[in-house]
Formats: sequence, C-alpha cells, structure tokens
Amino acid sequence: RNIVVLISGSGTNLQAIIDACKEGRINASISAVVSNKADAYGLERAKQAAINTVVVNPKEYSDRESYDMALAEVIEQHKADLIVMAGFMRILSQAFVERFSGKMLNIHPSLLPKYQGLNTHQRAIDAQDLEHGCSIHFVTPELDGGPVILQAKVPVFSDDDAETLAARVQVQEHAIYPLVVNWFVEGRLSMENDSALLDSNIL
Ligand code: GRF
Repeated sequence: RNIVVLISGSGTNLQAIIDACKEGRINASISAVVSNKADAYGLERAKQAAINTVVVNPKEYSDRESYDMALAEVIEQHKADLIVMAGFMRILSQAFVERFSGKMLNIHPSLLPKYQGLNTHQRAIDAQDLEHGCSIHFVTPELDGGPVILQAKVPVFSDDDAETLAARVQVQEHAIYPLVVNWFVEGRLSMENDSALLDSNIL
C-alpha cells in the first residue's frame, strides 16, 4: 500500500507517520510527500527519510480547479491508496474531494464538531473549555465536517496559552494518527454512506 502525505508546514505529524512506517506500526510506505509551500520544513523530514518530495506551487496555477487537477495528477502518479493530510492548509475543491472520496484523511486540532476552521486552541481557551483535543476524520466536501474516526482529549489548564495547549494536543496527534492510518491500510476502516466504519475487533 502507498500513502501520499500532503503538508504545508513543520510536518511533525508527517514525522510520526514516517517513524511508524519505519518501525512497522504502519504496514505501508510513503510514496511521496507533497507540499504547497517550497519552504515547508516537512520536506526536509521527507528527504532525510529518502522519500520523494513534490512542491505544487499555487502561484503557478491560475485558479483552484487547475491547481487541484495538478495535485490530483501528482497523487495518481505516486499510486496513492491513501491520502493523508497532515497540516495541509489549502481548501480543496469539491471535484478533488469527490475524486478521492473515502481515501482521504485529515487531522484537525479540536474535538469536532467543535471549532471547525482556524485558531482552535485560542477558541477553546476563550470558551473556558475544560477539555480540548484533536480529531481524525475522512475528508468530505464540507470543510472539517467529514465523519470523525478517532479523537483524543487533553485537559485545559487555567494557565494555558494557545502555545502550551497546542503542544499538549500535538502529543496526542502524533499518537493517534499512525493508528488510524494503519487501520485504513490494513482494510479495517472505510467510509460508507458518509460514516466511518471500523472493523468490530479494532480496539
Ligand atoms: C496540526 O496541529 C494539525 O492538527 C493541524 O496543523 C498542524 C500541523 O502540524 N491541521 P505539523 O505540520 O504536523 O507539525
């Protein structure tokens, strides 16, 4: 099985997935890491692990449709069975999402359906939430609205700022994303009728 990982930034989730592949906790290999930003540090992580990297630069395309077509082509060239979005900060068109329906995962730093969109950690603090966390979901055309597969919770402390809270959440992101990726590549997880379906023996 081949995984293509989409990133825009530091790639700590990518690193967790690279490590899990190397250690046999994910039974698949990463055939490419694709970034919309040439300076994403995650590209260095991929290179250090001898993984193909591709930059698809939005400035080279006139509109979202043509960008998404180019991105889809790269994904297909690398024979992706699964597309893992790991801090990929671009909105994808409905056509793109439908083309890869049921084969695309995203991690979002909140307990969905709470706090779709940006600045999730600050919003949880401002709302004085006692708990916060992260969610892994299938990608559907509704932004951050696809069926949730797994969540991890962390406490929010009264002296937290967005940075300390984000760090606590990220530890959990790195723990749960490899698990879900492996469920998918082992055929134990699928999306059926807009719901996440898990093998009953999974946990
Ligand atoms: C993560 O917090 C993820 O939840 C969000 O973007 C961040 C990516 O971090 N969507 P990294 O690039 O994996 O370090």
